[in-house]
Amino acid sequence: MLTKASTPSSVLLVCLGNICRSPTAEEIFRQQVAIAGLKIKVDSAGTSGWHQGERPDMRAQKHAKAHGYNISKLTSRQVQAQDFYDFDLILAMDSNNLDDLQAIKDTLTDADPEALARLALFSEEDPIYSGADVPDPYQGGSDAFEDVIDRIESSAQAWIESWRAN
Ligand code: 4NP
Repeated sequence: MLTKASTPSSVLLVCLGNICRSPTAEEIFRQQVAIAGLKIKVDSAGTSGWHQGERPDMRAQKHAKAHGYNISKLTSRQVQAQDFYDFDLILAMDSNNLDDLQAIKDTLTDADPEALARLALFSEEDPIYSGADVPDPYQGGSDAFEDVIDRIESSAQAWIESWRAN
């Protein structure tokens, strides 16, 4: 079983649309995992299927690129029940996402609970942003997209440090 401290072999990052926050988190996480020399499969998805098949939002692409993250080739997909079997850890960008993910997990009553992904808020390990949402930037301006990158870099680093310490 994946205990709280053990390094997962796979992580799924989840937001609402999978076009702003979670694709950004996917690439930031992937780069930090590589730098740390860890072997972790990283993917992202949305609780909605509203943007299924689409590339990330152009504003998210632009802000990510300015920080050295190329998310232009990522494609939006909706989270599915199978993800709870395929991933060790599923991280929600905000508390609404977390509630929606918990609702899916709650339907998987036939499964061995230990076979299902652990669910957590993306900021859970972060000493700076602990327990806070990564706010949805979709209706926001440039500042909102910069804030997303700042929070994601910080919280991704905190997860990796929590695993390296073990
Ligand atoms: P994301 O942002 O959840 O960070 O991808 C959003 C993208 C699209 C919408 C909302 C949030 N939308 O309402 O279409």
